[in-house]
Amino acid sequence: MKKKDGLYWLNLTKLTLPVKVLFTGYLLISSIGLFAAAVLILLTHGMYDGKFGISIEDIVYSYYGNRTGSKLEKALHGSMKPYAIEEERKILIEWVRKGAPEEELDRKIMPIIKKRCASCHSQMPELDITKRKVLKKFTEIDKGISIKRLTLLSHVHLFGMSFLFMLIGFVFSFSVGINRFLKSVLIATPFVFQFIDILAWWLTKFFPWFAWFVIVGGFGYFLASGIMILISLYQLWFMEEKEQNAWLVD
Ligand code: HEC
Repeated sequence: MKKKDGLYWLNLTKLTLPVKVLFTGYLLISSIGLFAAAVLILLTHGMYDGKFGISIEDIVYSYYGNRTGSKLEKALHGSMKPYAIEEERKILIEWVRKGAPEEELDRKIMPIIKKRCASCHSQMPELDITKRKVLKKFTEIDKGISIKRLTLLSHVHLFGMSFLFMLIGFVFSFSVGINRFLKSVLIATPFVFQFIDILAWWLTKFFPWFAWFVIVGGFGYFLASGIMILISLYQLWFMEEKEQNAWLVD
């Protein structure tokens, strides 16, 4: 853009102070928002496998669930193994694997639980597996996030994030010295990755191997937004006159 162009002022370096302040306020607060979102992801999804930091297992557990077995079966292979004899353990495990049918509960299952497990478990209300409702919780296979919650999260993210990327992209579109094509790619990137990310949530819900795309999608839009925010802030406040003019008179 040449200096004599009427729109010479319409770039980040030349905006009037009030507009600069407006743009900066938005960029700073939304960066904190993005940072908080990243921390939240680490604290929620990141902890599913019991270890800090996001991993493929975390993503699989969150969306697809942990379908290798119920908590009851896991306990019977692990810390509760000594409390039942081999035969009883087999009966319990087969029962859960069949989907914990109600009709066998009173006849086959409760007698074992009353005999072997009740002494401790009836003292722990949260873990009182002599109660049907509590026992049921431990026989369920973890199927990950529910469709209802996934739908809710999808629509909240699609509306909220697209608005965020719209405004970050809008501010960034007034930057100088960046090739138009490259600028367009950067502006499009968060939208594309947002779409990949949300599509990947749904795919991972049914096919765990798509978990990779959730990580790639999320990382992609954090990175693209971060780059746009940093370039915009730099040009709003720190770009030197000489540097600006070099871009502008070309
Ligand atoms: C000596 C006491 C004792 C006996 C007997 C006992 N439990 Fe437990 N059980 C515990 C305690 C304490 C916990 C909680 C701490 C833990 O998870 O190890 C627990 C936890 C559990 C859990 C929850 C694990 C989780 O993932 O949260 C299950 C399921 C369970 N027990 C099943 C059984 C079954 C089935 C039996 C009988 C075969 C049994 N327990 C016998 C003490 C006992």
